[in-house]
Amino acid sequence: MLAFGLLTAVLAAVASALPAAKRAPGAWCNGLGGGAFDSLSNFTLAAYNATGINTNTTGAPLVLGSAGAISGAELKDLATFASFPFNQYPSIALSEGRLLPTGPGTTPTAQNGVTAGSEVVFLASNSAQPSQGAQIWCAVADTDPAGHGTGHPFLAVNSDTDSFSLCPINSRVSVVYNATTGRGYDLDACYPVKLQLIF
Ligand SMILES: *[C@@H]1O[C@H](CO)[C@@H](O)[C@H](O)[C@H]1NC(C)=O
Ligand SMILES: *[C@@H]1O[C@H](CO)[C@@H](O)[C@H](O)[C@H]1NC(C)=O
Ligand SMILES: *[C@@H]1O[C@H](CO)[C@@H](O)[C@H](O)[C@H]1NC(C)=O
Ligand SMILES: *[C@@H]1O[C@H](CO)[C@@H](O)[C@H](O)[C@H]1NC(C)=O
Repeated sequence: MLAFGLLTAVLAAVASALPAAKRAPGAWCNGLGGGAFDSLSNFTLAAYNATGINTNTTGAPLVLGSAGAISGAELKDLATFASFPFNQYPSIALSEGRLLPTGPGTTPTAQNGVTAGSEVVFLASNSAQPSQGAQIWCAVADTDPAGHGTGHPFLAVNSDTDSFSLCPINSRVSVVYNATTGRGYDLDACYPVKLQLIF
């Protein structure tokens, strides 16, 4: 019995010394390589100009802008802080592929998905269920020795980091996924960006 007890104690000590098993990212990170991860708490988003000039490696800070309302819910989109200078949801979490903006006293938000050609929209309402939102988001840390040079992970939707743009829409400059013509904004005024996680 003594030997058994000792063995149990040794095994317990070994087990506690091992790091907790790392959960592999979900299918929403497929194809994004070893730097992909789908959970992280407390970061902000910024838009890095993919083709033009950036004054720094962060890019333009993004917030949730007011994009109108439908019955019982407010629509929020990702907009530049420069165009919508209010930051009610200053902390974002990535939780198993869901993007969850939060802030003190704010209404919960949930996302059904993203639509090609449209803004990245969140529905804010007291009945929103953030934990039931679409699992479509993934972050990609820079593991290339040559690097993409900014030092910040890129955000992907449906395993795609390359299809976001900033477009002037009404008074805001908002993130659009797969910008195209005939969607109520001037495509010529859009420019491609990479969304970055800043923490
Ligand atoms: C989130 O991060 C910001 C700055 O990075 C910090 O000021 C804030 O306290 C953090 N909030 C939580 C809940 O950890
Ligand atoms: C980003 O680059 C585009 C050119 O591709 C330019 O028109 C635009 O003004 C730049 N945006 C910022 C915020 O510098
Ligand atoms: C980086 O540049 C953007 C303009 O593109 C500016 O809004 C932002 O505040 C700058 N961030 C830092 C950390 O300097
Ligand atoms: C993006 O839009 C183009 C047309 O502008 C379309 O061919 C392509 O399938 C779209 N991609 C996604 C992921 O929706």
